[in-house]
Amino acid sequence: MGYHTSEAENPIDILNLASLEGRVKERMEAGAFGYICGGAEDEWTMAENTSAFNTKKIMPRVLKGIDHADLHTKLWDIDLKTPIIQAPSAAQGLAHEKGEVDTAKGVAAAGSIFSISTYANTLVEDAAAPDAPQFFQLYMSKDDQFNEFLLKKAVKAGVKAIILTVDSTLGGYREADIETQFQFPLPMPNLAAYSNSDGAGKGISEIYAAAKQGLVPEDIQKIKQITNLPVFVKGIQSPVDAEIAIQAGADGIWVSNHGGRQLDGGPASFEVLPLIAQQVAKRVPIVFDSGIRRGEHVFKALASGADLVAIGRPIIYGLNLGGAQGVQSVFEHLNHELSITMQLAGTKTIDEVKETTLLD
Ligand SMILES: Cc1cc2nc3c(=O)[nH]c(=O)nc-3n(C[C@H](O)[C@H](O)[C@H](O)COP(=O)(O)O)c2cc1C
Repeated sequence: MGYHTSEAENPIDILNLASLEGRVKERMEAGAFGYICGGAEDEWTMAENTSAFNTKKIMPRVLKGIDHADLHTKLWDIDLKTPIIQAPSAAQGLAHEKGEVDTAKGVAAAGSIFSISTYANTLVEDAAAPDAPQFFQLYMSKDDQFNEFLLKKAVKAGVKAIILTVDSTLGGYREADIETQFQFPLPMPNLAAYSNSDGAGKGISEIYAAAKQGLVPEDIQKIKQITNLPVFVKGIQSPVDAEIAIQAGADGIWVSNHGGRQLDGGPASFEVLPLIAQQVAKRVPIVFDSGIRRGEHVFKALASGADLVAIGRPIIYGLNLGGAQGVQSVFEHLNHELSITMQLAGTKTIDEVKETTLLD
């Protein structure tokens, strides 16, 4: 294909997650890097995603006898070693020759959940690490038969849930991709499995052109009927949409603004999390993403109503710098920061973090 990328397979030293971006920039082709790191328009919402965590504070609690933190938790009957999971991201072959296969391995080694995108560079049935939980993320197509074909393949591959992404019926206005005239250099086999068009050589708007534009609550039911699996609705920022999704049968709400890649000018994802959690009122689990770079961010999201958090770009950077082991290093680093935060905040378990009240 003429696109060459990392073949690294090594653990990586990490000072902090934010510093990974600069390291990757030096070694990645400009178009691919711009696609991964970029956000929409002025990237204001993208910046807010991380800075909004500073609007809340964690009270130190130092006389509760906490001598270590326990990060284990559960989603339904899935045991997890950490409340941090991987956010589904397209085209991971941009970051590493082994793409999603290595990400899945690294996530499995971390004892977490790997989610594969419709627009992955790997078939849904080929990515999952043995015995590790995998979810499938659907970009719903205009073509109902294609949706059914893909969802049935995901069921056959043994995925434990479907993530329906609802904030990206079209791509946000991302200037980096316009400047580099970015086109996906590698095929997207989940698309190719059904049609002659495999996505290679196409720009983002051409890929999204096949996506269903006007998503409606009934689409959630359609997926449930086809798969008989739990459905997370991803890309929720409004409590009203959260309620509509639950009424339509959603089994989980994934609070996300796509890492600021879609609607610029919207609130930070963290800003809306408490409002959505209040609306959801524990009827279904909440996954939160967008902007998490620190252990204290994970803590604050859990204390604001999230059951799990997801990270996007830092995992892709870990994949580029160290393959599966690099992905594992990213988890280990963020877990380490989270453990320190938990102990200093007087919380031993993830349940205790969730019961913590943050200061304004
Ligand atoms: C390069 C890239 C590709 C992405 N592709 C998808 C995708 O295919 N499906 C999806 O639901 N979300 C996709 N996302 C969004 C992530 O799932 C997640 O919401 C976001 O990255 C979280 O923000 P963070 O990067 O600040 O952690 C993508 C994000 C990035 C950076």
